[in-house]
Amino acid sequence: MKLPEQIEAQRIILKHYTKPTFKLAEDLFKIVDESRETLCEWLPWVDSTNSKEDEFANYLLPSQEKWENGVGFNYIIYKKETKKILGVVTLFNIKEKLQSGEIGYWLSDSATGFGFMQEAVRALEKIAFENGINRIVIKNDTLNFRSINVAKRCGYILEGVLRQNSWNEHKGCLYDTNIWSKLKSDWEKE
Ligand SMILES: CC(C)(COP(=O)(O)OP(=O)(O)OC[C@H]1O[C@@H](n2cnc3c(N)ncnc32)[C@H](O)[C@@H]1OP(=O)(O)O)[C@@H](O)C(=O)NCCC(=O)NCCS
Repeated sequence: MKLPEQIEAQRIILKHYTKPTFKLAEDLFKIVDESRETLCEWLPWVDSTNSKEDEFANYLLPSQEKWENGVGFNYIIYKKETKKILGVVTLFNIKEKLQSGEIGYWLSDSATGFGFMQEAVRALEKIAFENGINRIVIKNDTLNFRSINVAKRCGYILEGVLRQNSWNEHKGCLYDTNIWSKLKSDWEKE
């Protein structure tokens, strides 16, 4: 499967970089670091991302490999008006035979509360459904209300809850996971 390197929406642009640079790692690390307290509550990789080198080696390079292998498509979200980085949205866990994938996301603290993630998810799912994906899943902690609202507001259907199936390293506790999905046929009816 292949997806475009750039996806344009109303207020935002999603960009993939075929050759990630240290400058990009630096810019991305800056906003991760600024929003660390919020992000680390829900995203396991934040605690081990402590420099632009970590960002480059642990995120940008592996993402690039996944892109090349067609199993993961990560996009940096930019605000069109200011060209500022707002966060990241990714279509990953691609299973070609099942035509399925999962969407994951995060925004910097200063970019939350404006509907940018709903716009990003909707733009990415459109491209995914148009390029051979039939089923998209969103997973979130049952206490992550902001993430839950994104799934709900984007029209994803709650399939069920996996009880105490994951470990939150940061909080040191087990948590329940919501499984949301949207099928291409759901999207076509919207
Ligand atoms: C999850 C996360 C991306 C959600 O961000 P968010 O800003 O709440 O989501 P959206 O961008 O869709 O914005 C929705 C909010 O913008 C408001 N909004 C303002 N203008 C809007 C517009 N034009 N369109 C839609 N919503 C708008 C909505 O009312 C809503 O606010 P509310 O929830 O207080 O009512 C963010 O909280 C985050 O990064 N969290 C930490 C990382 C994380 O948990 N990632 C997910 C792991 S599963």
